[in-house]
Amino acid sequence: MIEQLSGLPVFPMSVRVVEVGPRDGLQNEHMPIPTEQKIRFIRLLAEAGLEVIEATSFVSPRAIPQLSDASAVMAACKAVPKTQTRYTVLVPNMKGMERALLAGVRSIAVFTAASESFTRHNIRATIAESLENFRPVVALAKREGIAVRGYISTVFGCPYEGAVDPYAVLAVAHALLEMGAEELSLGDTIGVATPKQVREVLALLVGEGAIPLDRLAVHFHDTRGTALANVLMALQMGIHIVDASAGGFGGCPYAPGAAGNLATEDVLYMLHGMGIQTGVDLENVVAATRTIAPYLGHMPTSKYFQAHEASLLLGEEPHA
Ligand code: COA
Ligand code: ZN
Repeated sequence: MIEQLSGLPVFPMSVRVVEVGPRDGLQNEHMPIPTEQKIRFIRLLAEAGLEVIEATSFVSPRAIPQLSDASAVMAACKAVPKTQTRYTVLVPNMKGMERALLAGVRSIAVFTAASESFTRHNIRATIAESLENFRPVVALAKREGIAVRGYISTVFGCPYEGAVDPYAVLAVAHALLEMGAEELSLGDTIGVATPKQVREVLALLVGEGAIPLDRLAVHFHDTRGTALANVLMALQMGIHIVDASAGGFGGCPYAPGAAGNLATEDVLYMLHGMGIQTGVDLENVVAATRTIAPYLGHMPTSKYFQAHEASLLLGEEPHA
């Protein structure tokens, strides 16, 4: 109230953090990770209170060998005694959908982009073709009562084309919603967005585009250090679903130079410090990151994680 009177921004009371580390994070890691370690990572993330975890991908194992154990990972997810967690998987085509159904998946994500060159490089199709490929996948999911999320990559910039027209984003968004996607995740695939751009794109989608706010999620990469500022702007615009990756692992391998998903720890630290509820235990996310980190061969990029581990080394109490 005071904030409204003073003209300061108003933020949502609670935010749903969608954990994409096991998929978007691990798909881009070069060391082969044992399946049981992926499963342990996912179980710890579920136990940390993350409501939605993108667990793996039923894409071509030749395209993404890192996730070729998708069926085994899903089988283990179903056995995790944390029924409130929803496990989502990425599905590119009917073949992937059939594999996902066999694995007992109840929530899928399909993916396309707002730029033609990126779509061609990533899935070897035009945007229109990619949407046509998804149509039967989404229709089947709907018949089976399976939730569908739609990813739109390169919303704020493309590695091949540069600037992306917000109206192209709007057109793809409408197409995915008409097809039956319940939620759209707007991806800054190469981490170029700034808050002004975030405001402009969201204003177009929810204003002229009339897309309900609760159907939009944001997916920022921290490649240029703007991810948290962009989240803040999205929250201010009324968004309350934010994608993040434990430890800050990964990013899309098809975008040259793309590194650094927004780290779950970093966004949780900011949200909790602002009094915004997430239902997630930050220390338990740190613990999950700590268990998988040795298998990746490099330090997690999460700033919170690094500060936390450094303070442990110095024998200080981590500042939570
Ligand atoms: N699961 C398992 N195998 C699959 C598959 C799937 N979902 N989709 C295709 N394949 C296999 C086919 O069976 C075929 O195998 P074969 O040569 O042994 O017969 C081979 O892959 C080629 O199939 P094709 O239909 O020609 O597809 P493609 O090679 O053009 O692949 C995609 C298109 C999009 C399915 C594939 O490139 C892919 O999965 N890409 C992953 C993209 C991704 O995850 N990006 C990260 C998101 S940012
Ligand atoms: Zn990402």
